[in-house]
Amino acid sequence: MHFRIIQWKLNIRKENRLKRKTFFNRQKARRVLFAQDLYAAEAADGVIMESKKWKQSVIYQIYPRSFMDGNGDGVGDLTGIASKLDYLKDLGIDIIWLSPIYKSPNEDNGYDISDYQDTMEEFGTLEDFDYLLSEAHARGIKIIMDLVVNHTSDEHPWFVESRKSKTNHYRDYYIWKEGKNGQPPNNWGSYFSGSAWQYDETTDMYYLHLFSKKQPDLNWELPKVRDEVYKMMTWWCDKGIDGFRMDVISLISKDQSYADLPVQEGNLYGNVDRYLANGPRVHEFLKEINRKVLFKYDLVTVGETTGVTIEEAKKYAGFNTNELNMVFQFEHVNLDNGIYGKWTDKRVSLVELKKVMNKWQTELEGAAWNSLYWNNHDQPRAVSRFGNDSEQYRVISAKMLATCLHMMKGTPYIYQGEELGMTNNNFDKLEDFNDVEIKNAYRELVEENHLIAPDDMIRCINKRGRDNARTPMHWSNTENAGFTTGAPWIKINPNYKDINAGSQIHDENSVFSYYKKLVHMRKQEPLMVEGTFHLRLPDREDIFAYERIIKNEKLLVVCNFTEKEAAFEVPEDYLKQNCKKLIGNYSGEGLQKIMKLKPYETFVYKQSLII
Ligand code: GLC
Ligand code: CA
Repeated sequence: MHFRIIQWKLNIRKENRLKRKTFFNRQKARRVLFAQDLYAAEAADGVIMESKKWKQSVIYQIYPRSFMDGNGDGVGDLTGIASKLDYLKDLGIDIIWLSPIYKSPNEDNGYDISDYQDTMEEFGTLEDFDYLLSEAHARGIKIIMDLVVNHTSDEHPWFVESRKSKTNHYRDYYIWKEGKNGQPPNNWGSYFSGSAWQYDETTDMYYLHLFSKKQPDLNWELPKVRDEVYKMMTWWCDKGIDGFRMDVISLISKDQSYADLPVQEGNLYGNVDRYLANGPRVHEFLKEINRKVLFKYDLVTVGETTGVTIEEAKKYAGFNTNELNMVFQFEHVNLDNGIYGKWTDKRVSLVELKKVMNKWQTELEGAAWNSLYWNNHDQPRAVSRFGNDSEQYRVISAKMLATCLHMMKGTPYIYQGEELGMTNNNFDKLEDFNDVEIKNAYRELVEENHLIAPDDMIRCINKRGRDNARTPMHWSNTENAGFTTGAPWIKINPNYKDINAGSQIHDENSVFSYYKKLVHMRKQEPLMVEGTFHLRLPDREDIFAYERIIKNEKLLVVCNFTEKEAAFEVPEDYLKQNCKKLIGNYSGEGLQKIMKLKPYETFVYKQSLII
């Protein structure tokens, strides 16, 4: 143990030396070029090759609370994560995105931070983090951190000060406004129900919170706030982390008129997501983040850009815009929304889904880079939502969904447990849920306004609620799914006995082994990374088919999204010689003119045409 600690300290020192060297090289390149353009400077010292690696990478998201409990208190932690790095190495992923591990009162499970430069006690210490980072690096795995800087916790010392008086030094770190005739300053709604304004008695004013009232929004207009954020980011970068996933970064710049926003049918408040996101100074701020922090390091960056449009994405993740490497768009995960937002039990229409995916695939081509995801810690489980989680079809449809996603253009994200085909929960009581979004929505829609009947709401929550993704990871079929030796902080899905890592890692027909194949294939197959995307048969309600093309090489990807057989006519080119099967979820080799796809069948063929 002692030896291991010395070893990781040495590793850290070595890494820091390397980082310093890269930094000085880049500074030199910048001076030589008198470069305004940071990327030109990067190209000059060869760093650009290095930093494009995120295109080839697969990113794995860890939600620390639910991944692995290392000390038996029922809560996942940093030591637990470190103990599972070999599992991730075996899966073959390149980068871990770590959901927040910072000090937090846990109103929103760590997305409410009270100290950016310390860890949540339940998760361990900063030393535990350093150990995890160096152990990941020793395995060639990078770690990108969640950066939550649209808001802090109301228990952050800045806010504790800010609310004390109108003249406090920290007052303007947050957004304070006078009420209007005893009402909030405007009609803005919070993402977590209710008004986005909270009245504070001490100074008889309201503060803005786009999320929970325990998550006051920072005032990015104030240069001091931005400097504090950059200082903190630099501190983490100097520790050797590999990048950031920037939480709701599209919301940091607020329209300074603070005018009422249009109210959508079925809503009680102004729609912040549609009318406030991508605010007037957001791109200026992101460029500043680059200038002040990011360019000094070799990082991977992804923005969670709620409300993003194609036009905006080209700015956020444009190849030459000096903002982010890629963004998360939300259109495909909002398709099944209804009049009360996400609280429906609607099923996504495949034709609509293809339309949205096609739009993002083709319209960012050559201009910006996509992030590809079916689920994350805010979304229901992929197989339950887009596939079929019945005993009969769960495995086969999980593999189909994986193929469909990993073969598209962009960087694929795997959310913990997705690689096992984990499913949604089926809780029957409100008390079983933990999520603040769920609890607030239940209160507003069921208890206060009687818009949805209690049973209906529970059904919708089981379909769309965030706790579906947050029940603990299934490691084995032993007690508590091998996640903890204690009492888990949230109920474990009882189907862990059938669905767990232990039974899948050595089974070559498992969902896990299939993901492993896809992840490795990406390293071998440039078409998966660079090929242009071409949708086929946009109007079919059962089949999602597309091609990826580079010059005279192409991939044909065909996915049956239904439990019915589906006939598919294979394009001529693929019926010629040289066509090779790359992967599929049924056995059998070779294409015929008409392929009869079995339930949830998928296959990928590669053609290298001789010209
Ligand atoms: C992002 C996070 C979500 C969180 C919210 C507020 O959407 O992904 O989990 O609740 O921001 O920080
Ligand atoms: Ca623990």
